[in-house]
Amino acid sequence: MPDDLDMKSETESQNGGAAADRSILILFAHPAFQKSRVNRILIKGLEGMRGVSFHDLYEIYPDFSIDAAREQALIIEHDVLIFHHPFFWYSTPAILKEWQDIVLEHGWAYGHEGTALRGKIMLSVVTTGGRESAYRRDSFSGRTVREFLVPIEQTARLCGMTYLAPFVAHGTHKMTLDQMAKHAEQYRRLLAALRDHRIDLEAASISDLPFINRDLDRLIKGDH
Ligand SMILES: Cc1cc2nc3c(=O)[nH]c(=O)nc-3n(C[C@H](O)[C@H](O)[C@H](O)COP(=O)(O)O)c2cc1C
Repeated sequence: MPDDLDMKSETESQNGGAAADRSILILFAHPAFQKSRVNRILIKGLEGMRGVSFHDLYEIYPDFSIDAAREQALIIEHDVLIFHHPFFWYSTPAILKEWQDIVLEHGWAYGHEGTALRGKIMLSVVTTGGRESAYRRDSFSGRTVREFLVPIEQTARLCGMTYLAPFVAHGTHKMTLDQMAKHAEQYRRLLAALRDHRIDLEAASISDLPFINRDLDRLIKGDH
């Protein structure tokens, strides 16, 4: 998978020249990507997107020796950070936790002089084996995926970032190809809107929005 999905032939709508496009960095973590069904299709759906960089952490750091300076330099170049991963034990695969522990240094990401992430946007993109009905307050798990991800939300806040409601593809075990394609289309649409400043960030980040997928028509302007 190429590091950068950028292609100059991209024809998606521009933002009218008002502000520079936002650049998007996908920090992807799937320890068995070769066996993936759903994430493979989500990523494939982004091919050719201008302004989106793809960074596959298990591919780049198979031994978990994360290079903090390299990761920090990459982050500085981007406006939107995405943690994209399958849900593993109600959380992220291990390398994303290691990435946070190594990269988000005091004095860089947080603390008195740690302002590198301030003003950036943070989004989680998650696929879950469990269906949506398993991630409601009245369900067996008793929590939404967003609630399980609260350490990431609070970390983003501590670092001065705007944290959006996550994009969640629920129910991967029984997901049909059509449903996967629909999620891929929504994911691409969301990233294009983030890049082109066409999303209502305030509404997309309110704390009682469990996930963003269903609200795209309301949150995105200018493409329907
Ligand atoms: C180690 C492991 C832990 C998992 N934990 C969860 C979990 O806590 N909740 C859940 O809904 N699915 C869980 N799953 C299912 C994965 O989230 C699911 O297989 C994945 O999202 C499918 O995406 P893929 O087709 O790209 O591999 C787990 C899977 C593995 C292998």
